[in-house]
Amino acid sequence: MRFFIFLCVLAYASALDNGLALTPPMGFMSWERYRCLIDCEKRPNECISEKLFKNIADVMVEEGYKDAGYEYVIIDDCWLEKKRDNVTGRLVPDKKRFPNGMKAVADYIHSKGLKFGLYEDYGTSTCAGYPGVIDNMKLDADTFAEWEVDYVKLDGCNADPKTMDVGYPKFGDYLNKTGRPMVYSCSWPVYQEEKGTIPNYELMIKHCNLWRNWDDIQDSYDSLKKIMDYFSRNQERIQPQAGPGHWNDPDMLLLGNYALSYDQSKTQMAVWAILAAPLLMSTDLRSVTPEIKAILQNKEIIAVNQDALGIQGKRVILINKIEVWVKPISPVSKTGHYSYAVAFVSRRDDGFPFDFGLKLSDLKFDNLNGYKVHDLFAKTKTLIPQKYRTEDTFNVRINPSGVQFYKFTSL
Ligand SMILES: *[C@@H]1O[C@H](CO)[C@@H](O)[C@H](O)[C@H]1NC(C)=O
Ligand SMILES: *[C@@H]1O[C@H](CO)[C@@H](O)[C@H](O)[C@H]1NC(C)=O
Repeated sequence: MRFFIFLCVLAYASALDNGLALTPPMGFMSWERYRCLIDCEKRPNECISEKLFKNIADVMVEEGYKDAGYEYVIIDDCWLEKKRDNVTGRLVPDKKRFPNGMKAVADYIHSKGLKFGLYEDYGTSTCAGYPGVIDNMKLDADTFAEWEVDYVKLDGCNADPKTMDVGYPKFGDYLNKTGRPMVYSCSWPVYQEEKGTIPNYELMIKHCNLWRNWDDIQDSYDSLKKIMDYFSRNQERIQPQAGPGHWNDPDMLLLGNYALSYDQSKTQMAVWAILAAPLLMSTDLRSVTPEIKAILQNKEIIAVNQDALGIQGKRVILINKIEVWVKPISPVSKTGHYSYAVAFVSRRDDGFPFDFGLKLSDLKFDNLNGYKVHDLFAKTKTLIPQKYRTEDTFNVRINPSGVQFYKFTSL
Protein backbone atom coordinates (compact mmCIF):
# COMPACT_ATOMS: atom_id res chain seq x y z
CA MET A 1 0.00 0.00 0.00
CA ARG A 2 3.03 2.26 0.08
CA PHE A 3 2.64 2.32 -3.68
CA PHE A 4 -0.20 4.85 -3.31
CA ILE A 5 1.87 7.28 -1.26
CA PHE A 6 4.66 7.18 -3.79
CA LEU A 7 2.36 8.08 -6.67
CA CYS A 8 0.80 10.95 -4.76
CA VAL A 9 4.10 12.55 -3.93
CA LEU A 10 5.35 12.10 -7.46
CA ALA A 11 2.27 13.71 -9.01
CA TYR A 12 2.16 16.52 -6.46
CA ALA A 13 5.71 17.59 -7.18
CA SER A 14 4.93 18.49 -10.80
CA ALA A 15 1.36 19.70 -10.33
CA LEU A 16 -0.18 23.05 -11.17
CA ASP A 17 1.09 25.36 -8.47
CA ASN A 18 -1.80 27.76 -7.83
CA GLY A 19 -2.53 26.50 -4.32
CA LEU A 20 -6.11 25.58 -5.25
CA ALA A 21 -8.30 22.47 -5.22
CA LEU A 22 -6.17 20.64 -2.69
CA THR A 23 -9.34 18.65 -2.10
CA PRO A 24 -11.94 18.02 -4.83
CA PRO A 25 -13.92 21.23 -5.55
CA MET A 26 -17.49 21.35 -4.22
CA GLY A 27 -20.33 23.55 -5.35
CA PHE A 28 -23.14 24.07 -7.81
CA MET A 29 -22.90 24.00 -11.62
CA SER A 30 -25.84 24.85 -13.85
CA TRP A 31 -25.49 22.62 -16.91
CA GLU A 32 -27.01 19.26 -16.02
CA ARG A 33 -30.26 20.74 -14.69
CA TYR A 34 -30.57 24.06 -16.52
CA ARG A 35 -28.73 23.46 -19.82
CA CYS A 36 -29.21 26.35 -22.21
CA LEU A 37 -32.55 27.50 -20.88
CA ILE A 38 -32.54 31.13 -21.94
CA ASP A 39 -36.22 32.04 -22.28
CA CYS A 40 -36.71 34.11 -19.15
CA GLU A 41 -40.21 35.17 -20.13
CA LYS A 42 -41.46 31.63 -20.26
CA ARG A 43 -39.25 30.22 -17.46
CA PRO A 44 -38.37 33.16 -15.20
CA ASN A 45 -37.20 30.99 -12.28
CA GLU A 46 -35.10 28.60 -14.32
CA CYS A 47 -33.45 30.56 -17.09
CA ILE A 48 -29.66 31.14 -17.06
CA SER A 49 -29.69 34.58 -15.47
CA GLU A 50 -28.38 36.72 -12.66
CA LYS A 51 -31.52 35.91 -10.70
CA LEU A 52 -31.00 32.15 -10.84
CA PHE A 53 -27.44 32.27 -9.55
CA LYS A 54 -28.28 34.77 -6.81
CA ASN A 55 -31.12 32.47 -5.71
CA ILE A 56 -28.80 29.47 -5.70
CA ALA A 57 -26.20 31.36 -3.67
CA ASP A 58 -28.87 32.38 -1.14
CA VAL A 59 -30.10 28.81 -0.77
CA MET A 60 -26.59 27.41 -0.46
CA VAL A 61 -26.10 29.59 2.59
CA GLU A 62 -29.59 29.35 4.10
CA GLU A 63 -30.04 25.62 3.68
CA GLY A 64 -26.69 24.50 5.03
CA TYR A 65 -24.91 23.57 1.79
CA LYS A 66 -22.19 26.12 2.40
CA ASP A 67 -21.60 24.83 5.93
CA ALA A 68 -21.37 21.31 4.52
CA GLY A 69 -18.52 22.46 2.26
CA TYR A 70 -20.17 23.44 -1.03
CA GLU A 71 -18.37 26.56 -2.11
CA TYR A 72 -18.40 27.36 -5.84
CA VAL A 73 -21.40 28.74 -7.74
CA ILE A 74 -20.56 27.99 -11.36
CA ILE A 75 -22.35 29.42 -14.38
CA ASP A 76 -22.10 26.97 -17.27
CA ASP A 77 -22.70 27.70 -20.97
CA CYS A 78 -25.20 30.26 -22.35
CA TRP A 79 -24.32 33.34 -20.29
CA LEU A 80 -22.89 35.27 -23.23
CA GLU A 81 -24.09 37.55 -25.96
CA LYS A 82 -23.60 35.92 -29.37
CA LYS A 83 -21.04 38.56 -30.31
CA ARG A 84 -18.06 40.12 -28.62
CA ASP A 85 -18.02 43.86 -28.03
CA ASN A 86 -17.28 45.28 -31.45
CA VAL A 87 -14.94 47.96 -30.11
CA THR A 88 -13.01 46.31 -27.27
CA GLY A 89 -13.32 42.73 -28.49
CA ARG A 90 -14.35 41.65 -25.01
CA LEU A 91 -16.81 38.96 -24.04
CA VAL A 92 -20.21 40.46 -23.21
CA PRO A 93 -22.61 38.76 -20.79
CA ASP A 94 -26.18 38.54 -22.12
CA LYS A 95 -27.56 42.02 -21.64
CA LYS A 96 -31.08 40.98 -20.70
CA ARG A 97 -30.27 38.06 -18.45
CA PHE A 98 -27.20 39.57 -16.77
CA PRO A 99 -28.19 43.25 -16.87
CA ASN A 100 -25.57 44.30 -14.30
CA GLY A 101 -22.69 42.37 -15.84
CA MET A 102 -20.62 39.56 -14.34
CA LYS A 103 -18.70 41.55 -11.76
CA ALA A 104 -22.02 42.28 -10.04
CA VAL A 105 -22.84 38.56 -9.94
CA ALA A 106 -19.37 37.82 -8.55
CA ASP A 107 -19.77 40.52 -5.91
CA TYR A 108 -23.07 39.06 -4.79
CA ILE A 109 -21.71 35.53 -4.59
CA HIS A 110 -18.62 36.74 -2.73
CA SER A 111 -20.79 38.71 -0.30
CA LYS A 112 -22.30 35.37 0.70
CA GLY A 113 -18.88 33.93 1.45
CA LEU A 114 -19.02 31.75 -1.67
CA LYS A 115 -16.85 31.57 -4.77
CA PHE A 116 -17.67 32.32 -8.38
CA GLY A 117 -17.14 30.02 -11.35
CA LEU A 118 -17.64 30.69 -15.04
CA TYR A 119 -17.71 28.55 -18.19
CA GLU A 120 -15.94 29.20 -21.45
CA ASP A 121 -14.72 27.11 -24.35
CA TYR A 122 -11.26 26.62 -25.79
CA GLY A 123 -12.53 26.61 -29.38
CA THR A 124 -13.96 29.17 -31.76
CA SER A 125 -17.34 28.93 -30.04
CA THR A 126 -18.86 27.23 -27.01
CA CYS A 127 -20.84 24.01 -27.34
CA ALA A 128 -24.04 26.09 -27.47
CA GLY A 129 -22.60 28.49 -30.05
CA TYR A 130 -21.41 31.50 -28.06
CA PRO A 131 -17.95 33.05 -28.61
CA GLY A 132 -15.00 30.88 -27.50
CA VAL A 133 -11.57 31.98 -26.29
CA ILE A 134 -9.22 30.56 -28.92
CA ASP A 135 -8.35 33.84 -30.63
CA ASN A 136 -8.59 36.06 -27.55
CA MET A 137 -6.96 34.07 -24.78
CA LYS A 138 -5.11 36.85 -23.03
CA LEU A 139 -8.00 39.28 -23.21
CA ASP A 140 -10.45 36.70 -21.88
CA ALA A 141 -8.19 35.56 -19.04
CA ASP A 142 -7.74 39.22 -18.06
CA THR A 143 -11.49 39.80 -18.27
CA PHE A 144 -12.16 36.80 -16.02
CA ALA A 145 -9.69 38.12 -13.47
CA GLU A 146 -11.32 41.57 -13.60
CA TRP A 147 -14.69 40.01 -12.94
CA GLU A 148 -13.13 38.20 -9.95
CA VAL A 149 -13.78 34.72 -11.24
CA ASP A 150 -12.49 31.96 -8.91
CA TYR A 151 -13.05 28.90 -11.08
CA VAL A 152 -12.89 28.51 -14.86
CA LYS A 153 -14.43 25.57 -16.69
CA LEU A 154 -12.96 25.46 -20.18
CA ASP A 155 -14.89 23.18 -22.51
CA GLY A 156 -13.51 21.86 -25.80
CA CYS A 157 -16.20 22.14 -28.46
CA ASN A 158 -15.42 23.55 -31.91
CA ALA A 159 -11.69 22.98 -31.73
CA ASP A 160 -9.13 20.52 -33.07
CA PRO A 161 -8.26 18.08 -30.23
CA LYS A 162 -4.73 17.81 -31.65
CA THR A 163 -4.04 21.42 -30.67
CA MET A 164 -5.26 21.02 -27.09
CA ASP A 165 -1.95 19.84 -25.57
CA VAL A 166 -0.63 23.27 -26.46
CA GLY A 167 -3.77 25.42 -26.32
CA TYR A 168 -5.10 24.47 -22.89
CA PRO A 169 -1.75 25.11 -21.17
CA LYS A 170 -1.54 28.42 -23.02
CA PHE A 171 -4.86 29.64 -21.61
CA GLY A 172 -3.77 28.33 -18.19
CA ASP A 173 -0.61 30.44 -18.44
CA TYR A 174 -2.70 33.52 -19.19
CA LEU A 175 -4.85 32.77 -16.16
CA ASN A 176 -1.69 32.47 -14.08
CA LYS A 177 -0.31 35.74 -15.42
CA THR A 178 -3.39 37.65 -14.24
CA GLY A 179 -2.12 37.02 -10.70
CA ARG A 180 -5.59 35.93 -9.59
CA PRO A 181 -5.71 32.31 -8.43
CA MET A 182 -8.46 30.57 -10.40
CA VAL A 183 -9.27 26.87 -10.34
CA TYR A 184 -8.70 25.63 -13.87
CA SER A 185 -11.04 22.87 -15.01
CA CYS A 186 -10.05 21.40 -18.37
CA SER A 187 -12.08 19.27 -20.76
CA TRP A 188 -9.35 18.18 -23.07
CA PRO A 189 -9.28 14.42 -22.31
CA VAL A 190 -12.95 14.10 -23.29
CA TYR A 191 -12.30 15.37 -26.78
CA GLN A 192 -9.10 13.40 -27.26
CA GLU A 193 -10.59 10.13 -26.00
CA GLU A 194 -13.51 10.62 -28.38
CA LYS A 195 -10.93 10.49 -31.18
CA GLY A 196 -9.27 7.43 -29.66
CA THR A 197 -6.21 9.30 -28.36
CA ILE A 198 -4.92 8.57 -24.85
CA PRO A 199 -4.51 11.98 -23.22
CA ASN A 200 -1.20 13.16 -21.88
CA TYR A 201 -1.92 13.13 -18.16
CA GLU A 202 1.45 14.53 -17.18
CA LEU A 203 0.61 17.72 -19.05
CA MET A 204 -2.84 17.84 -17.54
CA ILE A 205 -1.55 17.49 -13.99
CA LYS A 206 0.90 20.25 -14.68
CA HIS A 207 -1.64 22.67 -16.11
CA CYS A 208 -5.12 21.86 -14.75
CA ASN A 209 -6.68 21.45 -11.32
CA LEU A 210 -9.22 19.01 -12.68
CA TRP A 211 -10.32 17.60 -15.99
CA ARG A 212 -13.35 15.95 -17.45
CA ASN A 213 -12.31 12.49 -18.59
CA TRP A 214 -15.36 11.41 -20.51
CA ASP A 215 -18.95 11.98 -21.63
CA ASP A 216 -21.38 14.42 -20.05
CA ILE A 217 -23.64 12.92 -17.43
CA GLN A 218 -27.35 12.88 -18.28
CA ASP A 219 -30.33 12.62 -15.98
CA SER A 220 -30.67 8.83 -16.03
CA TYR A 221 -29.49 5.83 -14.04
CA ASP A 222 -28.25 4.42 -17.32
CA SER A 223 -25.91 7.39 -17.79
CA LEU A 224 -24.67 7.06 -14.20
CA LYS A 225 -23.90 3.37 -14.76
CA LYS A 226 -22.02 4.09 -17.98
CA ILE A 227 -19.82 6.63 -16.23
CA MET A 228 -19.14 4.23 -13.35
CA ASP A 229 -18.23 1.58 -15.92
CA TYR A 230 -15.88 3.94 -17.74
CA PHE A 231 -14.08 4.91 -14.53
CA SER A 232 -13.70 1.32 -13.35
CA ARG A 233 -12.78 -0.10 -16.75
CA ASN A 234 -10.03 2.49 -17.17
CA GLN A 235 -9.02 2.83 -13.54
CA GLU A 236 -5.49 1.49 -13.93
CA ARG A 237 -4.53 4.46 -16.06
CA ILE A 238 -6.91 7.09 -14.65
CA GLN A 239 -6.72 6.52 -10.90
CA PRO A 240 -3.01 7.31 -10.43
CA GLN A 241 -3.47 10.78 -11.99
CA ALA A 242 -5.59 12.11 -9.11
CA GLY A 243 -4.19 13.86 -6.07
CA PRO A 244 -4.28 17.16 -4.18
CA GLY A 245 -4.59 19.95 -6.77
CA HIS A 246 -5.32 17.64 -9.72
CA TRP A 247 -8.47 15.55 -10.02
CA ASN A 248 -10.36 13.38 -12.46
CA ASP A 249 -13.90 14.66 -12.99
CA PRO A 250 -16.72 12.19 -13.75
CA ASP A 251 -19.12 15.16 -14.05
CA MET A 252 -21.97 16.57 -11.97
CA LEU A 253 -24.17 15.03 -9.30
CA LEU A 254 -27.66 14.15 -10.49
CA LEU A 255 -29.17 14.13 -7.01
CA GLY A 256 -32.39 16.12 -6.61
CA ASN A 257 -33.42 15.78 -10.26
CA TYR A 258 -35.87 13.48 -12.02
CA ALA A 259 -34.24 10.17 -12.82
CA LEU A 260 -32.49 8.67 -9.82
CA SER A 261 -34.38 6.78 -7.12
CA TYR A 262 -33.46 7.29 -3.47
CA ASP A 263 -31.18 4.24 -3.56
CA GLN A 264 -29.55 5.31 -6.84
CA SER A 265 -28.97 8.78 -5.40
CA LYS A 266 -27.04 7.21 -2.52
CA THR A 267 -25.10 5.13 -5.05
CA GLN A 268 -23.90 8.19 -6.95
CA MET A 269 -22.94 10.04 -3.77
CA ALA A 270 -20.99 7.04 -2.46
CA VAL A 271 -19.17 6.33 -5.71
CA TRP A 272 -18.33 10.02 -6.24
CA ALA A 273 -16.89 10.07 -2.71
CA ILE A 274 -14.78 7.00 -3.50
CA LEU A 275 -13.58 8.54 -6.79
CA ALA A 276 -12.47 11.75 -5.04
CA ALA A 277 -14.67 13.42 -7.63
CA PRO A 278 -15.61 17.09 -7.60
CA LEU A 279 -19.00 17.33 -5.86
CA LEU A 280 -20.86 19.67 -8.18
CA MET A 281 -24.59 19.70 -7.58
CA SER A 282 -26.80 20.55 -10.53
CA THR A 283 -30.34 20.68 -9.29
CA ASP A 284 -32.90 23.22 -8.16
CA LEU A 285 -31.61 23.66 -4.62
CA ARG A 286 -34.75 25.66 -3.83
CA SER A 287 -36.85 22.49 -3.95
CA VAL A 288 -34.71 19.53 -2.91
CA THR A 289 -36.50 17.01 -0.67
CA PRO A 290 -35.21 16.50 2.89
CA GLU A 291 -34.11 12.93 2.06
CA ILE A 292 -31.94 14.00 -0.86
CA LYS A 293 -30.63 17.03 0.99
CA ALA A 294 -29.51 14.72 3.80
CA ILE A 295 -27.50 12.68 1.30
CA LEU A 296 -25.93 15.77 -0.27
CA GLN A 297 -25.02 17.14 3.16
CA ASN A 298 -23.89 13.86 4.77
CA LYS A 299 -20.80 15.16 6.53
CA GLU A 300 -19.03 11.83 6.91
CA ILE A 301 -19.42 11.00 3.24
CA ILE A 302 -18.20 14.46 2.28
CA ALA A 303 -15.22 13.83 4.57
CA VAL A 304 -14.42 10.65 2.60
CA ASN A 305 -14.52 12.64 -0.63
CA GLN A 306 -12.45 15.47 0.84
CA ASP A 307 -9.94 13.25 2.65
CA ALA A 308 -6.61 15.03 2.84
CA LEU A 309 -4.62 12.08 1.44
CA GLY A 310 -6.40 12.73 -1.86
CA ILE A 311 -6.24 9.14 -3.09
CA GLN A 312 -8.82 8.19 -5.69
CA GLY A 313 -10.51 4.85 -4.97
CA LYS A 314 -11.14 1.94 -7.31
CA ARG A 315 -13.63 -0.78 -7.97
CA VAL A 316 -11.77 -3.79 -6.55
CA ILE A 317 -14.36 -6.58 -6.78
CA LEU A 318 -17.16 -7.46 -9.16
CA ILE A 319 -19.04 -10.66 -8.31
CA ASN A 320 -22.70 -11.54 -8.86
CA LYS A 321 -23.38 -7.99 -10.07
CA ILE A 322 -22.12 -6.66 -6.74
CA GLU A 323 -19.33 -4.12 -7.04
CA VAL A 324 -17.03 -3.26 -4.16
CA TRP A 325 -15.42 0.17 -4.40
CA VAL A 326 -12.57 1.03 -2.01
CA LYS A 327 -10.78 4.28 -1.22
CA PRO A 328 -7.79 4.49 1.16
CA ILE A 329 -8.38 7.35 3.61
CA SER A 330 -7.02 8.74 6.82
CA PRO A 331 -6.40 8.09 9.64
CA VAL A 332 -3.36 5.92 8.97
CA SER A 333 -2.80 3.71 12.03
CA LYS A 334 0.43 3.66 14.05
CA THR A 335 1.30 0.44 12.25
CA GLY A 336 1.13 2.33 8.93
CA HIS A 337 -2.17 0.91 7.69
CA TYR A 338 -4.72 3.00 5.85
CA SER A 339 -8.32 3.33 6.89
CA TYR A 340 -10.79 2.73 4.05
CA ALA A 341 -14.13 3.83 2.72
CA VAL A 342 -15.91 0.84 1.19
CA ALA A 343 -19.01 1.03 -0.99
CA PHE A 344 -20.92 -2.15 -1.82
CA VAL A 345 -22.90 -1.26 -4.94
CA SER A 346 -25.59 -3.53 -6.34
CA ARG A 347 -26.21 -3.66 -10.07
CA ARG A 348 -28.92 -6.24 -9.48
CA ASP A 349 -32.56 -5.77 -10.31
CA ASP A 350 -33.96 -9.09 -9.15
CA GLY A 351 -36.32 -7.88 -6.46
CA PHE A 352 -35.18 -8.34 -2.91
CA PRO A 353 -32.10 -6.84 -1.26
CA PHE A 354 -29.11 -9.08 -1.96
CA ASP A 355 -27.03 -10.73 0.76
CA PHE A 356 -23.30 -10.46 0.19
CA GLY A 357 -20.30 -11.25 2.36
CA LEU A 358 -16.54 -11.26 2.14
CA LYS A 359 -13.49 -11.52 4.33
CA LEU A 360 -11.54 -8.35 4.92
CA SER A 361 -8.51 -10.22 3.62
CA ASP A 362 -10.36 -10.50 0.28
CA LEU A 363 -10.04 -6.71 0.13
CA LYS A 364 -6.35 -6.97 1.13
CA PHE A 365 -7.07 -5.20 4.42
CA ASP A 366 -4.10 -6.54 6.33
CA ASN A 367 -3.95 -4.69 9.64
CA LEU A 368 -3.72 -7.50 12.20
CA ASN A 369 -5.07 -5.13 14.87
CA GLY A 370 -8.32 -5.02 12.94
CA TYR A 371 -10.77 -2.29 11.97
CA LYS A 372 -13.59 -0.43 13.62
CA VAL A 373 -16.50 -0.26 11.17
CA HIS A 374 -19.04 2.44 10.82
CA ASP A 375 -22.09 2.77 8.53
CA LEU A 376 -21.95 6.08 6.65
CA PHE A 377 -25.64 6.20 5.71
CA ALA A 378 -27.45 4.54 8.64
CA LYS A 379 -28.67 6.43 11.68
CA THR A 380 -27.20 3.79 14.00
CA LYS A 381 -23.67 4.05 12.81
CA THR A 382 -21.44 1.76 14.83
CA LEU A 383 -21.70 -1.89 13.93
CA ILE A 384 -21.75 -4.99 16.13
CA PRO A 385 -19.20 -6.49 16.57
CA GLN A 386 -17.20 -3.34 17.21
CA LYS A 387 -14.06 -4.76 15.76
CA TYR A 388 -13.44 -6.68 12.55
CA ARG A 389 -10.29 -8.68 12.00
CA THR A 390 -8.85 -9.59 8.63
CA GLU A 391 -10.29 -13.13 8.65
CA ASP A 392 -13.73 -12.04 9.81
CA THR A 393 -16.53 -12.10 7.28
CA PHE A 394 -18.27 -8.82 6.67
CA ASN A 395 -21.90 -9.23 5.63
CA VAL A 396 -24.09 -6.68 3.93
CA ARG A 397 -27.56 -6.58 2.38
CA ILE A 398 -27.86 -4.23 -0.58
CA ASN A 399 -31.02 -2.91 -2.21
CA PRO A 400 -31.37 -3.31 -5.99
CA SER A 401 -29.35 -0.48 -7.65
CA GLY A 402 -28.45 0.70 -4.15
CA VAL A 403 -25.37 0.88 -1.97
CA GLN A 404 -24.09 0.14 1.52
CA PHE A 405 -21.29 2.47 2.48
CA TYR A 406 -18.86 1.99 5.37
CA LYS A 407 -15.79 3.48 6.91
CA PHE A 408 -13.21 0.96 8.12
CA THR A 409 -11.00 2.76 10.62
CA SER A 410 -7.63 1.10 11.00
CA LEU A 411 -6.88 0.32 14.69
C1 LIG B 1 -21.25 48.06 -32.50
O1 LIG B 1 -22.25 47.66 -31.57
C2 LIG B 1 -23.19 48.66 -31.28
C3 LIG B 1 -24.16 48.12 -30.24
O2 LIG B 1 -23.55 47.28 -29.35
C4 LIG B 1 -23.92 49.07 -32.55
O3 LIG B 1 -24.80 50.13 -32.26
C5 LIG B 1 -22.92 49.48 -33.61
O4 LIG B 1 -23.59 49.71 -34.82
C6 LIG B 1 -21.88 48.43 -33.83
N1 LIG B 1 -20.87 48.87 -34.75
C7 LIG B 1 -20.41 48.14 -35.76
C8 LIG B 1 -19.34 48.74 -36.59
O5 LIG B 1 -20.83 47.01 -36.00
C1 LIG C 1 1.58 31.10 -11.26
O1 LIG C 1 2.56 30.10 -11.43
C2 LIG C 1 3.61 30.15 -10.51
C3 LIG C 1 4.65 29.12 -10.91
O2 LIG C 1 4.09 27.84 -10.99
C4 LIG C 1 3.06 29.94 -9.11
O3 LIG C 1 4.11 30.00 -8.16
C5 LIG C 1 2.01 31.00 -8.81
O4 LIG C 1 1.42 30.75 -7.55
C6 LIG C 1 0.93 31.00 -9.89
N1 LIG C 1 0.04 32.11 -9.68
C7 LIG C 1 -1.28 32.03 -9.81
C8 LIG C 1 -2.07 33.27 -9.57
O5 LIG C 1 -1.86 31.01 -10.13
